[in-house]
Amino acid sequence: MTKKLRLLTGDRPTGALHIGHYAGSIVSRLEMQNSGEYDPFIFIADMQALTDNAFDPEKVKNSVDELMLDYLACGLDPEKCTLFVQSGVPELAEIFMYYLNLVTVARLKRNPTVKTEMAQKNMTGESVPAGFLTYPVSQAADVTAFDADVVPVGEDQLPVLEQTNEIVRTFNRIYGDTIKEPKAVLSQNKNARRVPGTDGNAKMGKSLGNCIYLKDDAETVRKKVMSMYTDPNHIRVEDPGNTENNVVFKYLEIFGRDQKKVAEMKAHYEKGGLGDVVCKKYLFEELEAILAPIRARRAEFAKDMSKVHKIFEEGTARARKVAAATLERIRHAVGVDYFNK
Ligand code: TRP
Repeated sequence: MTKKLRLLTGDRPTGALHIGHYAGSIVSRLEMQNSGEYDPFIFIADMQALTDNAFDPEKVKNSVDELMLDYLACGLDPEKCTLFVQSGVPELAEIFMYYLNLVTVARLKRNPTVKTEMAQKNMTGESVPAGFLTYPVSQAADVTAFDADVVPVGEDQLPVLEQTNEIVRTFNRIYGDTIKEPKAVLSQNKNARRVPGTDGNAKMGKSLGNCIYLKDDAETVRKKVMSMYTDPNHIRVEDPGNTENNVVFKYLEIFGRDQKKVAEMKAHYEKGGLGDVVCKKYLFEELEAILAPIRARRAEFAKDMSKVHKIFEEGTARARKVAAATLERIRHAVGVDYFNK
C-alpha cells in the first residue's frame, strides 16, 4: 500500500457556508476524503478570522459552531479525517513566530491577496492590523505544521501558498532541511470555482446578500431561486432568451444532475418558448436534491452541540500531536531546544 497523502485545508469562520463554498471546495474535499488516497486534516481557522475581526469576537465564535455543523452536515467524516480548530493548537503560534523573522514587511505588503483584502476592508495606508498583514506567515505555520503534501484552496489563495513555499525554502536553507513544501491544488470542476450570486454579481458573498446557505430552509431557497437574476430582456415566453449571464443556467450547469437535459433546456430557452418559471422550478428541485439531505443532517447534529464539540475536541487533540512533533523538529533546527538534549 502506498502512503496516503497528507491533505490540509481550512476556512475562516466568518459565517455559515453557502452553495458557492459547497461547489468550490466541499465537493472536492468529500471526493478526496472518500477516495482513500488522502489523510485529510480539515480545520476552522478561528485565529486567522480574528486577524480582521478582533473587535467582533462574537461573530467568530458563533461562526465556529456554524462551520462545525456545516462540515458534519456535508459529510466530512471524523472517522476518515481529522477535524480541528486552529486555536486549540497553540504550537502553530510558536511556529509562526520563528517564521515571522524570515519575511520582510515589504514582501508582506506585496502579497496580492492581502492587498485586495485590505482594499475591500478599507485598511488604508498603515492602518492594517499587524496580525492581518502577517496572516500568510501564520498560514505557512498551519500548512507546514502538518507536513501537508496537498493544500486544496480557491484561486485567491495561490499567492498565500506561494509565500508559504518561500518561507519553507528560506527556513530549510538557513536551518537545514526540516519542513515540507506543500502543493496547492485547485478545485477540479472549473465551472464550480466561481458560483455567481443570486443577483448576477460575479461573486456570492455574505455582505452582498446574494447567497443561498446550506442551512436555508426549503421555503427560503425557493424564494431565492424564484427571484433570481435571469435575462431582463426575456419578457414573453416566446422571446428568445439569453443564457450567457443568466444565473439560473449558470447554477444548472454547476448543480444539475442531468447535463443533457440542461443543454436541451438551454437551446430551447435561447430559441424562445421556454419560460423562466419552468427553469427556476427545475433548478429548485435540483438544488433541493443536494440541500435537503444536508439540511436534515445539520438539524440532527444541531440537537446535540456537546456531541459536535466533542468530535472537534478529539480531532484537535490528534492534530496537536502532529503539530507538536513538527515544532520539536523546528526547535531543534533553530537551536532553541536547550533543555531537552
Ligand atoms: N485563508 C483561508 C481562508 O481564507 C483559511 C486558511 C487558514 C487556510 N489557514 C489555511 C486554508 C491553511 C488552507 C491552508 O479561508
